[in-house]
Amino acid sequence: MREKIVAGNWKMNKTFLEAEEVLSEITDLLSEREDQDAKVIVCPPFVFLELAIDLSYEGQFDVGAQNVSEYEKGAYTGEVSAEMLRSMDISYCIAGHSERRKYFHETDEMIKNKVDGLLRNNISPIFCCGEALSEREASKHFSVVKTQLKKSLFHLPADEFQKVIIAYEPVWAIGTGVNATPEQAQEMHAYIRELIEQKYSKEIAGNTTILYGGSCNAANAHALFSNPDVDGGLIGGASLKAKDFAAIASALH
Ligand code: 13P
Repeated sequence: MREKIVAGNWKMNKTFLEAEEVLSEITDLLSEREDQDAKVIVCPPFVFLELAIDLSYEGQFDVGAQNVSEYEKGAYTGEVSAEMLRSMDISYCIAGHSERRKYFHETDEMIKNKVDGLLRNNISPIFCCGEALSEREASKHFSVVKTQLKKSLFHLPADEFQKVIIAYEPVWAIGTGVNATPEQAQEMHAYIRELIEQKYSKEIAGNTTILYGGSCNAANAHALFSNPDVDGGLIGGASLKAKDFAAIASALH
């Protein structure tokens, strides 16, 4: 189902006490929101998931994980399985983030396995796609995103695909302070929706949630979210401060 979503990806930030503090602040600030239309998801590091779940009891935000193992279970030291996440009532998990593709050498095939494992456990993948700067400069951004979707998502049957949230995150915009312009975001989101329509149907394309990520902040969120095909954001740096994150959530209505 197409939803308005603002999700915070904390990446590898915060201590336990800092996490507790910011989650409490987020709860307070979000409860003051006039427009409660948008769903808010917080994706802290694994070790703070239980804390986040405990603090989500007031219903102001949902909790997601940042990563999952591509394997089901067994002798994979340090890994966390989709079944473990499900057993903690986690309903969302990021997959295919460009930092995991780059620093941890995740391939489209590995990401496909992660997506499949999450869906087997009834967890909605927040699937990240997006091109590097050199690819945009070479006008390859559409084909790069198309390949990422084809290789890791488009094998899914329609009923499973409909549980996926897509996040378009151009790599050159992540953590750089240079966000995609609202026009660039809208253009790519519309293209992604077109690809979904070709592969599945117009109805499914219209029902898919597509988020924008990359230097999205309180100042530019409204302009980005005002586009017809942008359903919200996946926020990195600006999700670490409760005030900024709550302001971004309020920009989505
Ligand atoms: P920034 O908002 O810090 O650019 O990060 C975006 C991101 O990678 C979210 O997953």
